[in-house]
Amino acid sequence: MLTDTEHGVQGDHRFYDCLDQFWHPVARDDDVGDSPQLATLLDRRLVLARINGGLVAFDDRCVHRGASLSLGTVEGSCLRCAYHGWAYDSEGTVVEVPANPEVSEGLAVGLRRYPCVVRHGLIWVSLTDDPAFDIPDFPHLEDPEFRVISCDPYEWDCASVRRLENYVDFGHFAWVHDGYLGSRDHAEVGVHETWREDGSLRCTATVVEPPSGKMKKHLSDVGDLITARNEYWISMPHTVLLDRHFEGGARYVLFMSASPISANRTKSFWFIGRNYATDEEADKEFLDFEWEILAQDKPIVESLTPDVIPSRLGEEMYVKTADAITLGYRQWLSELAAEVKQ
Ligand code: FES
Ligand SMILES: [Fe+2]
Repeated sequence: MLTDTEHGVQGDHRFYDCLDQFWHPVARDDDVGDSPQLATLLDRRLVLARINGGLVAFDDRCVHRGASLSLGTVEGSCLRCAYHGWAYDSEGTVVEVPANPEVSEGLAVGLRRYPCVVRHGLIWVSLTDDPAFDIPDFPHLEDPEFRVISCDPYEWDCASVRRLENYVDFGHFAWVHDGYLGSRDHAEVGVHETWREDGSLRCTATVVEPPSGKMKKHLSDVGDLITARNEYWISMPHTVLLDRHFEGGARYVLFMSASPISANRTKSFWFIGRNYATDEEADKEFLDFEWEILAQDKPIVESLTPDVIPSRLGEEMYVKTADAITLGYRQWLSELAAEVKQ
């Protein structure tokens, strides 16, 4: 286990330390062009590059003098370091040393290459060769019934686990999002069931919300309150898919995957989709609404202490109904942390 000094934050790092056993998104596929690009995952600097049309992820550190390879260039089938021009092939093996060409073929050294795939328009990397779960499904992205928008990622100063928990924290809707996703006049959290299913923590909750949000104006015949059935899939460790069913068949979908840059910095990749008001002109209203929600959450989530979540469940308090999903999530994460570190 790393120490506080290595992480730069105080706290219990058991959850953080197990995160290298999972897939995480590190960039949007469209955001990586012909030049190598830096991405940071779990305090590890990675270089993403397209070599021979294929995407690779290596440690962002040249084996010669440690230059950042994300400052280099892709030349045909090679990634070339900007400092002394050493070239690496798509396996990460050194294939050229310009200052001493005669040694180029004899250097059996190279970069560590990580599993790297594109799924849902995102680049996912695993720091282990055998990640604990598959990349989460997002079937709505391929469903012609839905208009899905890939949204700009954002970074918060918080642990990735806390980012995920905020997304599925039913008790905060009435307070942080009063008038948007909930109402202080109806702050009680209804009974809902959580269970594990096919590698996801599942939850179905029926919620009552005020209709004031811009996204609601497209729903016809709304009264003073809107009832929605929310279906959640929480894929370990940090992805949530929420499928909202409104009366009359309208559905609104959110997909968010929180990627741990470090123990207290998180980059969230996200999509929104809907099967109503599917004209492009309506996109901005939906996006504006979501960015307003995020602006309400950010200062609260960044204020949570300690930065990392205590892995001993008894160190924070839970109320039976409102915190059921948080507790179920932490229990599962606790089991995984114990398993993957054995
Ligand atoms: S540091 Fe990369 S070639 Fe010298
Ligand atoms: Fe929120």
